[in-house]
Amino acid sequence: MHFDIFTLFPAMFDGVFSESIIKRAVEAGLVSIALHNIRDYAPGKHRVTDDTPYGGGGGMIMKPEPIFYAVEAVLGPQPDAPIILLSPQGRLLTQRIARELSKHPRIALICGRYEGVDERVRQYLATDELSIGDYVLSGGEIAAMVVVDVVTRLLPGVLGEPGATFEDSHAMGLLEYPQYTRPPEFRGYTVPEVLLSGNHAEIVRWRRQESLRRTWQRRPDLLEKAPLSEADRAFLRRLEET
Ligand code: ADE
Repeated sequence: MHFDIFTLFPAMFDGVFSESIIKRAVEAGLVSIALHNIRDYAPGKHRVTDDTPYGGGGGMIMKPEPIFYAVEAVLGPQPDAPIILLSPQGRLLTQRIARELSKHPRIALICGRYEGVDERVRQYLATDELSIGDYVLSGGEIAAMVVVDVVTRLLPGVLGEPGATFEDSHAMGLLEYPQYTRPPEFRGYTVPEVLLSGNHAEIVRWRRQESLRRTWQRRPDLLEKAPLSEADRAFLRRLEET
């Protein structure tokens, strides 16, 4: 997977990409990341990248030319990679969208800044627009880091074990069950007996039920779309009744 990231602040990415999973994925040759400074593609001596909005009002808008020139110079005239604008107006990023993105060999991410991006970037350059949540960041950089992270950990070989992501929260449409490790007792707080029992079938059943209970308590909206068995539904009915 190759990521091209278009930003006015490439240094923001240094720490995030030089640690942990992403660093290891890059070192293993599973991922490559190229940071492109939009300012380098801005015409004129002063390399201006923003301007005041037509029609008045406050704030500055990112000009279209530097962004078009940057993306075209890097991806060529007929790119087939998705060109994703990060903005609070985009489709909400979900685990399903992350899985779809992970199937592409190359993805371009455009980070908006200031009060906005000229609408022509959205209309004529970007092929998709993603938001990471219903709040406003000061720019798309942190959102682009989120996209790189969620997509990278889904790529084959990135996490040690194949299938390591199957039981993540959201992977199966539910929140993950509670996890424990040693010691079995800490300050009198104990680990659920079933997890120490060695009874694999019981553990699987307990985990499924705790996953359902947690989703029901915290994110009931997810239950509407999650694939549920008859046993799952019976368990949820019991929760409703208590
Ligand atoms: N830029 C500003 N806010 C954003 C958000 N919520 N998601 C993606 N990009 C953004």
